[in-house]
Amino acid sequence: MPKSPGGALLSGFDIDRMSPVPIYRQLDASLRRLILKGTLSPGQKLPSTRELATDLGVSRITVKSVYEQLVAEGYAQAKTGAGTFISKGLDFEATPRIRSARRKPTPPEVEISDRARTIMSSKASARHGKTDPFRPGVPALDLFPVKVWDKYMMEAMTCHERHNLSYGQVNGSAALRRSIANHLTDARGMQVDPDQIVITSGAQQAFVLIAFVLLKKGDTVWYENPGHIAGRDVMQIMGANVAPVPIDDEGMDLSHAQDNHPTPTLIFTTPSHQQPLGTTMSLVRRLSLLNYAHDNDAWIIEDDYDSEFRYRGRPLPALSALDSKRRVFYVGTFSKSMFASMRLGYIVVPPGLVETFAKARNLLGQSSSAVVEQALSRFMEDGRFVEHIRKMRRIYRERRDVLFDCLMNDCAAYLTPQTTDAGMHMLGWLKNGLDDQVAHRALLAAGIESLPLSVYCLEPVGRPAIVLGFSCAPAARIPKLVKRMAAVLRDLS
Ligand SMILES: Cc1ncc(COP(=O)(O)O)c(C=O)c1O
Repeated sequence: MPKSPGGALLSGFDIDRMSPVPIYRQLDASLRRLILKGTLSPGQKLPSTRELATDLGVSRITVKSVYEQLVAEGYAQAKTGAGTFISKGLDFEATPRIRSARRKPTPPEVEISDRARTIMSSKASARHGKTDPFRPGVPALDLFPVKVWDKYMMEAMTCHERHNLSYGQVNGSAALRRSIANHLTDARGMQVDPDQIVITSGAQQAFVLIAFVLLKKGDTVWYENPGHIAGRDVMQIMGANVAPVPIDDEGMDLSHAQDNHPTPTLIFTTPSHQQPLGTTMSLVRRLSLLNYAHDNDAWIIEDDYDSEFRYRGRPLPALSALDSKRRVFYVGTFSKSMFASMRLGYIVVPPGLVETFAKARNLLGQSSSAVVEQALSRFMEDGRFVEHIRKMRRIYRERRDVLFDCLMNDCAAYLTPQTTDAGMHMLGWLKNGLDDQVAHRALLAAGIESLPLSVYCLEPVGRPAIVLGFSCAPAARIPKLVKRMAAVLRDLS
């Protein structure tokens, strides 16, 4: 039962007026049962005698005498002026029968649908809370300017007569869509009408929405192999035939795809920084991809998840910026540039489909938080977003360099590090026949959170590697961590 400053609601119990058991005894027995079951937890406040008496339609004196009895027996404590609280330190371990009744029952084996089976086979890991260094894709959360952000959040909660505490707009607030459109013009060379943007709860929801709207069972989706795991699993769950497309030096190998797979409804790609190999798709390949999509009525998802972080030269404009035929769904996220629990991302939707996407967004969770949307749009308008990205870019570049140097110094016997011009992770190609899953598990046991390349693969790519995120590891800690890695890999070798 959640703790509430005003006391527990006790909404589940009722008084049976037809029962021969007196009301006093019924109330007393119900409260004891809740205390012993742990539903009313130690320290939790009981409702005031007045409130409970009104809720149950009984006299206040009855409630008062039940409370007094519980206090007299040590189940509860009365604090003058504050109320009655369940006693702390009650030894529930001494009541084994009730303990075991509280244990969750094992869920029965249930067969719901083919879709449920596909969902259960997903390899996408649910992440939350603390992660160990070098988990890929995790920004430097300790460096996020929380005090500044807090100011924007407070402002967003209290302004406009608190309108933001209601539902947000299904396609996202006009202000945030404008801020994003401006940012995309400035940073990605795209000309975007804010009305083409649909705000989502992160890029993952964008993939779900696109698959939900576009895919029919049995449709083919060309998907980069290796590729982003959770996006791929969504396509499969929606009943698509996900066709793995290898990556060469220029990006997705379109000739291979055309020779080996049926014409797709949808093509999923990460052209700025291939996830996870790090390749940037060449201009020639981008144009071929756009032409192919146009000629074959295929749609493209451009997942531009970490393009803010480029360390050398100017980034190529987004694929979407070249898309005169309007076949691209451009997907962006704030999970890497800001923090993931913000749960904000967006789709730039090709014209003619915006209304459908807004309706679909409504069905899949209504809207994002209007409070967070406003805080973010002001944060962007005031230049704070770009300021944060610039700072992180400097820090991540340093972390990347330190990690690469340390891997070269200490781990070269076990892996070949492959540095990167962009993003938040690099690859370590394993040597000596080391298996990437085995290496991943051994490193994890030593507090190092790499990911094995094979989990990104629908088909094996031939060479084992681990993916190492450098953005979340402070530079000063990296040398020691890499020495620990070397020791683990030495033992495995
Ligand atoms: C390549 C890629 N795309 C998209 C996402 C999804 O991000 P989110 O749903 O947090 O916006 C991730 C998350 O790790 C990712 O690695």
